[in-house]
Amino acid sequence: MSDRTEQLRQIRDEVLNLTESPLYSYRKQNGYFPVIGQGNHYADIMFIGEAPGENEAKTGVPFCGASGRVLDELIASIGLRREAVYITNIVKDRPPANRDPNKQEIELYSPFLVRQINIIQPKVIATLGRFSMEFILKLFDMPQKTQKISQLHGKVLEGQAEFGLIYVVPLFHPAVALYERSKRAILEEDFQVLRQFISLQ
Ligand code: URA
Repeated sequence: MSDRTEQLRQIRDEVLNLTESPLYSYRKQNGYFPVIGQGNHYADIMFIGEAPGENEAKTGVPFCGASGRVLDELIASIGLRREAVYITNIVKDRPPANRDPNKQEIELYSPFLVRQINIIQPKVIATLGRFSMEFILKLFDMPQKTQKISQLHGKVLEGQAEFGLIYVVPLFHPAVALYERSKRAILEEDFQVLRQFISLQ
């Protein structure tokens, strides 16, 4: 097993046993799984969403419901399959009733995300939605950290990760494409900027 797989399994085991999480008992009561992440451990492109929804918590697979179908179509539109990228969330357990993740949950779960970033060392992080954008821009202390997603979506921003240069592309959350057709067109256009990060094999 590769070193990366070993380290990611370690994260999975720690999250599985995260009894101090306010979402732990909700997970157990419902027979849910934590959603750690899925994809290529050597991916150039890493997608970061907010938190699992019901379908995700039932299966342990990120973005496997309605917004996941949108994400798959967008990934296909740049000539990739989800196996080629890595997909994860900031918060690894489902918040009740699909509410937004709160500050305490983000603080508790985000260190796992930071470890995942440092293990996978992607060339680019594409944030899905406002929460992950704000978290990542602050993490890398980027000058755009106070700007809004409406100003930053589809832009290629340069940051400095622990392992070196990293690009950040803020994107709208695929769920918005489900209820706002105009946002779907914007997402499709914004996605095309990710093509430059696809390595030719
Ligand atoms: N929304 C997210 O932010 N993440 C998922 O995994 C599914 C829906």
